[in-house]
Amino acid sequence: MPITSWKVGAGGTARATASMLDPRLIADLRAARRVVVFTGAGMSAESGIPTFRDRLTGLWAQVDPMEVATARAFRANPQRTWDWHVQLAEAVRAAAPNAGHAAIAALEQAGPEVTVITQNVDALHHRAGSREVVELHGNLLRLTSFVDEEAAFAAASPTICRVCDGYAVWEHCDPYAERGDLAAIELRAGPVPRCPGCGALLRPDVVWFGEPLAVDAIEAAWNAVDRCEVLIAVGASLEVEPAASLPWRALARGARVVEVNPVPTALAAQCHAVISGAAAEVLPALFAAIWPER
Ligand code: OAD
Repeated sequence: MPITSWKVGAGGTARATASMLDPRLIADLRAARRVVVFTGAGMSAESGIPTFRDRLTGLWAQVDPMEVATARAFRANPQRTWDWHVQLAEAVRAAAPNAGHAAIAALEQAGPEVTVITQNVDALHHRAGSREVVELHGNLLRLTSFVDEEAAFAAASPTICRVCDGYAVWEHCDPYAERGDLAAIELRAGPVPRCPGCGALLRPDVVWFGEPLAVDAIEAAWNAVDRCEVLIAVGASLEVEPAASLPWRALARGARVVEVNPVPTALAAQCHAVISGAAAEVLPALFAAIWPER
């Protein structure tokens, strides 16, 4: 059972938050030298970016993810998958970091070493000024080539395109194309663009269902979790592995774990405190209560 569980409604203040926290937990949080903030889509909800699984407003309530967020879907209909991501990219471009992102970035100044591990692909933590950010699921506004290994190996023995790093047929590669030509292409409405080097279709550099996470990202996440004394899980439903296991891993290693979410997850029954409320409201109040010297 959590030591502390409370709800921060509209108007929740730092003073109210402090008075509701268990003093032992406050002491543990204050003493922490290394803090992990683990975030999901709820972190960016107040920036205007929809979550995935909220029942009415979530993205997966509008479309089956298997139709737009898998390599199979892209192979079958690249344009449909591209167009769906374009819409999300427009929401991301229109968004700004919220008070919760800002509070996390400011926490670095309060003393503890802070690592943000995010499942979000919107780069809002970077934009808010957080320096140590592990993007587990990639970055929506960065493009990479769609590597269709079957096609590449069926055609000829492939080489690596020096523009996009994807498999390519050497004779097909434009010797004059450069990496900068690829970096200049954006996720915008229109036909699916191609790598200026080898001609492969381009896709957003995010992790789709059924794809592995980048090894360096998951290793960085494990390292940070294994070293932290406190993990704060914010706006994550904990339904997608391997990210979902990270708070449990922190608990198993003896870290204090706090959940911030308007709807408690499976973690709530096991962690040390549950704060029911919106990230943009709870985090500034919580951090001001724990680290008032900031
Ligand atoms: P979900 O949509 O599954 O969960 C969002 C969570 O945020 C839920 O637990 C909500 O209760 C909570 N929430 C909603 N509004 C909030 C607010 N204002 N403040 C705090 N919390 C709030 O999103 P994720 O857990 O991030 O994969 O989903 C995990 C992955 O599934 C995503 O990274 C995405 C998706 O398929 C990829 O993009 C690869």
